Amino acid sequence: MDSTTPRVVDIHTHMYPPAYVQLLESRNSIPLIRKFAGAEAPRLIILPAEAESLDKSTSENPGKPSSHLPGRPVTTHYSSLSQKLHFMDTHKIDISVISLANPWLDFIAPEDAGETAKSINQEFSNMCGEAPGRLFFFATLPLTALPETLLAAVGYVRSLKYCRGVILGTSGLGKGLDDPALVPVFRALASNKLTVFLHPHYGLPSEVWGPRAAEYGHVLPLALGFPMETTIAVARMYLAGVFDQVPELRMVLAHSGGTLPFLAGRIESCIVHDGHLVKEGKVGPSRRTIWQVLKEQIFLDAVVYSEVGLKAAIDASGVDRLMFGTDHPFFPPLNTDEQGEWESVTWNAESVRKALGEGSEAARAVMGGNAVEILMLHEDD
Ligand code: URA
Ligand code: ZN
Repeated sequence: MDSTTPRVVDIHTHMYPPAYVQLLESRNSIPLIRKFAGAEAPRLIILPAEAESLDKSTSENPGKPSSHLPGRPVTTHYSSLSQKLHFMDTHKIDISVISLANPWLDFIAPEDAGETAKSINQEFSNMCGEAPGRLFFFATLPLTALPETLLAAVGYVRSLKYCRGVILGTSGLGKGLDDPALVPVFRALASNKLTVFLHPHYGLPSEVWGPRAAEYGHVLPLALGFPMETTIAVARMYLAGVFDQVPELRMVLAHSGGTLPFLAGRIESCIVHDGHLVKEGKVGPSRRTIWQVLKEQIFLDAVVYSEVGLKAAIDASGVDRLMFGTDHPFFPPLNTDEQGEWESVTWNAESVRKALGEGSEAARAVMGGNAVEILMLHEDD
């Protein structure tokens, strides 16, 4: 394939390499993988909102039908490279930028984090090496480790041939991404030209979902908690001035920026109407608005499942900053054939076509051209 052929690139696609699966299998509290009596496959239980249902299903009825068990079945789609490639072929995806899924290494003891990160990143690197040109990856940082270990990890992942950035949750070093202690890490990432892929995991406190939340499955934490978490994390970074302190920092926001494209105007209005910020001189003529930051330092994925959301993302950041993604292996097919077509993928691709026109140059850019340029995917050497 020559460099002018349009390519489809999936920048939001996860894996749990076998060593990470073993780590989750060895645990007794979430995140974990557990076998339940009568269930056809072990279950992956990772979301904070699932902790309560895990406790109940352990104590109440171990033989429950799997639809009532917490979490989701761990299929081979989570850890098998050949399955990832099969999925890519099924959906005509030429290149995937794979990343560890949540909750990454957030739960690892500080003394183990450096080595664990190294071996996970090495596994990702090896997988990419097995399908050269088709796979790149966002590495995982040992955020719970000592600062020197963490900074050394940035240098290490930079040296891995297929690494194009790092995936990051919203907890940072435990105090969020507006923590001044993270600024040196952001500086190191920026100076090594490593893009941050910001991805949610923690959602919102479970009380906000009300006493009947368990009846609604994963809908509230995934559809609303995840996007709000991203929105809050980036708003905090913006208010703390992180984007000005590290102007070379480049961030791709999962799920089209949560609700940022829709709420940026409201954030702006609240800032200029805040007497406290005005008094402290934080609202002056030299301030870059959040709209500017969205167009200068932020990129968005196209994982929003609708033309309406996609149009807001395009208006907020620009069509040249938007990149297609699938969120594989989450949201599997609605029928049971996991080897066939996944509707969650088709819906995202259809939204791009509807928003930008079938076969248009802009649609081709969002489906792959932008990612090739932004993440330097033509350089596989
Ligand atoms: N998508 C993810 O990436 N993680 C989840 O936990 C659920 C959906
Ligand atoms: Zn994801």
